[in-house]
Amino acid sequence: MPAKATKKTKNNEAKDNCLIIKSAHAEARVWVYSPTIIRVNISKKFNEADESFAVIQQPQANISVKEKDGLTVVDTGALVLKINPQSLQFNFYTADGCWLDGDYERFGTVWDDAKWSNYRKMQPDARFIGLGEKTGPLDRRGQAYVNWNTDAVDYGPKTDPLYKTFPFFIGLHGKETYGLFLDNTHRTYFDFGASTDHKMYWMAADGGDLNYYFFGAQGVAKIIQDYTWLTGRMEMPPLWSLGYQQCRWSYMSAKEVLKVAGKFRKKKIPADVMYCDIDYMDGYKIFTWNKETFEDPKAMLDELKQLGFKLVIIVDPGIKIDKTYKQYDDGIKKNYFAKYVNGDLYTGEVWPGRCHFPDFYRADVREWWGKSFSALTEPGVEGFWNDMNEPAAWGQNIPPIVKFGDKPLSEVRNVYGHQMSRGTYDGTRKLLKGKRPFVLTRAAYAGIQRYSAVWTGDNTANDAHMLLGARLVNSLGITGVSFTGVDIGGFSGNPTPELMVRWNSLGVYTPMFRNHAMIGTVRREPWEWGRDNETIIRKDIEQRYRLLPYLYSAFYQSAQTGLPVCRTLAIEHPFDFNVYNEAYQNQFMFGDNMLVAPAESVAKKVKVYLPAGNWYRFSSGEAIKGGDVVKADAPLTDLPVFIRAGAIIPMQSVVQNTAEPGDGMLELHIWDGPQATEFTYYEDDGATYDYEKGAFYKRTISFDPAQQLVTLSTVEGTFTSRFKEVRMMMHHTDGHLKKHKPSELTNEPMVLKC
Ligand code: NOJ
Repeated sequence: MPAKATKKTKNNEAKDNCLIIKSAHAEARVWVYSPTIIRVNISKKFNEADESFAVIQQPQANISVKEKDGLTVVDTGALVLKINPQSLQFNFYTADGCWLDGDYERFGTVWDDAKWSNYRKMQPDARFIGLGEKTGPLDRRGQAYVNWNTDAVDYGPKTDPLYKTFPFFIGLHGKETYGLFLDNTHRTYFDFGASTDHKMYWMAADGGDLNYYFFGAQGVAKIIQDYTWLTGRMEMPPLWSLGYQQCRWSYMSAKEVLKVAGKFRKKKIPADVMYCDIDYMDGYKIFTWNKETFEDPKAMLDELKQLGFKLVIIVDPGIKIDKTYKQYDDGIKKNYFAKYVNGDLYTGEVWPGRCHFPDFYRADVREWWGKSFSALTEPGVEGFWNDMNEPAAWGQNIPPIVKFGDKPLSEVRNVYGHQMSRGTYDGTRKLLKGKRPFVLTRAAYAGIQRYSAVWTGDNTANDAHMLLGARLVNSLGITGVSFTGVDIGGFSGNPTPELMVRWNSLGVYTPMFRNHAMIGTVRREPWEWGRDNETIIRKDIEQRYRLLPYLYSAFYQSAQTGLPVCRTLAIEHPFDFNVYNEAYQNQFMFGDNMLVAPAESVAKKVKVYLPAGNWYRFSSGEAIKGGDVVKADAPLTDLPVFIRAGAIIPMQSVVQNTAEPGDGMLELHIWDGPQATEFTYYEDDGATYDYEKGAFYKRTISFDPAQQLVTLSTVEGTFTSRFKEVRMMMHHTDGHLKKHKPSELTNEPMVLKC
């Protein structure tokens, strides 16, 4: 469709909804994606293919452009962009004229051959959050980062880069918010005033265009919604993947996998998932099984099913060079592996020895890869763990003359893991014939939430890593990735029993709850830590299962709006400075209503910042006034978790795995508060895509404190709830918990008296 209100003027022309401005040294193109999202692309030489791995939306048909005072002005109604057509400097304003962000007039954008750097004005009170999986503090001001997906073995609390690339941040100053997504897959750089005079921040890339999406919505949550509208949102995960997951490098045989799974049942410790790390394979050849140790995968999976477990299996991209190996032979015959620029096959070394690497850039290669999962889905695997996909090769330095598709490594390394996960997701979704696959990946690029959950790679068993893990998860949430986790207990090193217990209790409030450890470390299963600790670990895992109705509804919110399950307090309170204080920056909201304060393993008490409002300690029901710092008891048995007054928290009985029906009782915990509140309750079968066709169960639960009533709206959707009865549990400010009589759960509106 042609651009509407745009005429050719002195400086600009409009073509296909795009404003084009040609200056002496570069060309700029501008599109409006929505009233609050403007895209700018400045280039010396446009690539007309204009491909994005992240963006799934198209620009709007209309772009309104005016010339005023020598500037070209784009006005969306909600966002105003003023462009100096000579210097190609861009400034963004709110509709009422408040400056949000823009080029620093001294430098603007500077080219050095294919590289460019872009300098932007920084306000004295500027803060920055985001960039996904990045170490360092919540507020990125004063920090510098590089995006270059790396197998970050032994990373520390300051290491950069790690495994993933999310060139998206949210800026804050005054009372203004804005977001910027640099959609460029080359090695990119962000410096938030770390190495400058505090008047500017800058970003740069080793190649490609200065291609960014500017978000002008006011409010961090709104910007996250816009960003995830642009780059996509997650699907509903399989319910089993929200249960407790037990992993190790490696359970060495089917016998061992079954023994561990059986022990969970014997000890009545709830769990849903077992993992096979690399040793299930025959010589680390992907899509094979070791014939001696995993001689009958189907029998193992059948037995796991009997026990109520799902299995997740690791896959790496490196395909062993071995003429007797089908995957290798196939890849060679069909020309599926990455090559050097001269056409020779690239060879790198990983677990299997010398390997070739599938060229996941290509659709035909992804399809081949996806189909190969039948070797795993046929015996019954439904979870697929994509590892080593930065891609990792020993020595780390894959030569820059390696090509993927027609692109050099330097351009597409940062999307290799993204493309592998995409192939895995597309392929396994087809193979599972209507069941939801669980896909997990280590390397990622913006938009990964459409295909996969992520975990934060090889962390270490110490307190600093546990706290960093909370920040990584929260920061990934800002960049649209809700389904995230860390290796609970720490991948390398050995946790103290205290650290293991504490980390497990924090895992309850992490979207993906997986215990994993490196080969050679002490065993990590819940029963390895002594009787008393086992009891605490069991109780915490039980709590996770009790919270499933709340958690699943939080995932629904992520799927609908992009708001993450774990939310840094900066999402709701961006201008409350305490939120960025080193002492409180790890705190987060788990869903709408639970505030979690991670505490070091040996801490007996921790200082917690409770934002304004009224709160309750989850464990004791004690009411606490917010807007202040409180000293909270933090014994190993009781991680400091607080409930917002007015919260509606649906819970269920303890089950041993997510497929168990439980006692049929939906507990509605209402935490008394001064204001009327609402909660969107959501259920579906937790297994298939039928929810896309209306087979869900959704209702709004409202709490009216003035009338002391709780109302459940009429059910939307055709799914029948797992619950037969509902029981209100009213938590009063004096600490009293009133357990109401159960009522039959009907689909019609229900009114319950508090
Ligand atoms: C590296 C991964 O990060 C880790 O989780 C896994 O256990 C090892 N590779 C072995 O597969």
